[in-house]
Amino acid sequence: MRILYFKFRALVVTWLLRLIPRNAPVVYKGAGSAIALAEQVAILGLGKLLIVTDEFLANSGILDGIKQQLDKDGVAYAIFDGVLPDPSFDQVQAGEALLRTERCEAVMAVGGGSVLDAGKLIALLHTNPGDLKAFDGIQKAKHPGVPLLAIPTTAGTGSEITFASVITDPLSHRKVPVIDSKLIPGYVALDADIMKGMPPGITAATGMDALTHAVESYLSTASTAATELQAKAAVRLIFKYLAKAWHDGADMEARDAMAVAAFYAGSAFGRTSVGYVHGIAHQLGRICQTPHGNANAMVLPEVLAAYGNCVHARLADLAILTGLGDDGDDSATLANRFIQAIIDLRTEMDLPLKPKGLQAGHITDIVKEAVTETGDLYPVPRYLSDMEITAIVRGLLPAN
Ligand SMILES: [Fe+2]
Repeated sequence: MRILYFKFRALVVTWLLRLIPRNAPVVYKGAGSAIALAEQVAILGLGKLLIVTDEFLANSGILDGIKQQLDKDGVAYAIFDGVLPDPSFDQVQAGEALLRTERCEAVMAVGGGSVLDAGKLIALLHTNPGDLKAFDGIQKAKHPGVPLLAIPTTAGTGSEITFASVITDPLSHRKVPVIDSKLIPGYVALDADIMKGMPPGITAATGMDALTHAVESYLSTASTAATELQAKAAVRLIFKYLAKAWHDGADMEARDAMAVAAFYAGSAFGRTSVGYVHGIAHQLGRICQTPHGNANAMVLPEVLAAYGNCVHARLADLAILTGLGDDGDDSATLANRFIQAIIDLRTEMDLPLKPKGLQAGHITDIVKEAVTETGDLYPVPRYLSDMEITAIVRGLLPAN
């Protein structure tokens, strides 16, 4: 009965994802594209700009080139650097208050997934005043936000192309997914120059998040010919370049490719949603504060192995794509090679395998919430049993 309900939910989600209208952003790509995007503010006549970022980035010098370009063009701006990881709605309100008092007319979000999520909602809140409840759900905002420009400083979340912002309710501490096509930025810069200072641990974790988006999108029953193309492109680029970017952060070819991979993966999963890897990873984030990319990396190969036969043909496609075999090999062998390649990538980049603070007493809660989240939201290729999910989570406990 539960599976029937989940299958019904998956159908509803699939159709909602297909029906939500969306415009593709104008994308500037390559080293220096953040400056090219800053130049567009004057060309487009957007008026005074609110730059949304976090305190670390505001003091890191990463904004210097953007600010110089705005100064050169005579564009006034204010900076809101109050975004924290897993941003809560009060930070969004504080950013919007600054936008209002400074009489800004557009938002430029410069940062990782948290900053982009907050910046997207600040732009929308300004034209749709209200509390978080007014945004909780799908297509709740009535009016488009102020013009929004996004410059990701990490290559992973894909927030620069998705129509979602995840914002924490400051009272209940619940993470609220705001889903609205009006959250998609109008302009994006994928700038390898901006990303070259990213530490190796963040490069690895965010890259594995992008890989998870691409693989879960490719396995989703909601996938389409267009999302398959994007997911495959992302997988191809990530296997070729993620370890290179991790080994040498100044490898601009690798940084450039990873920025594009994360964008493609974000575009793909925006149409298909994700799967059990995210369903479990979100619980590890909630209970152990495990960073999102790290949490995905901890369970991605294990979830793929648990799906079993039903995903062998799809994973075989990805194995051939990444040079792990050819059509002459049987699909089970190819699928296992692809899973092993993810394990090898995880090992090469020294990613942590166990969430800090996880205890046996957490397992029931994690499994229950992962089952509910996945069943309600994600069109997965097969519904795993509680026992199968328990085995995956139990494998994350520290060794005695
Ligand atoms: Fe993710």
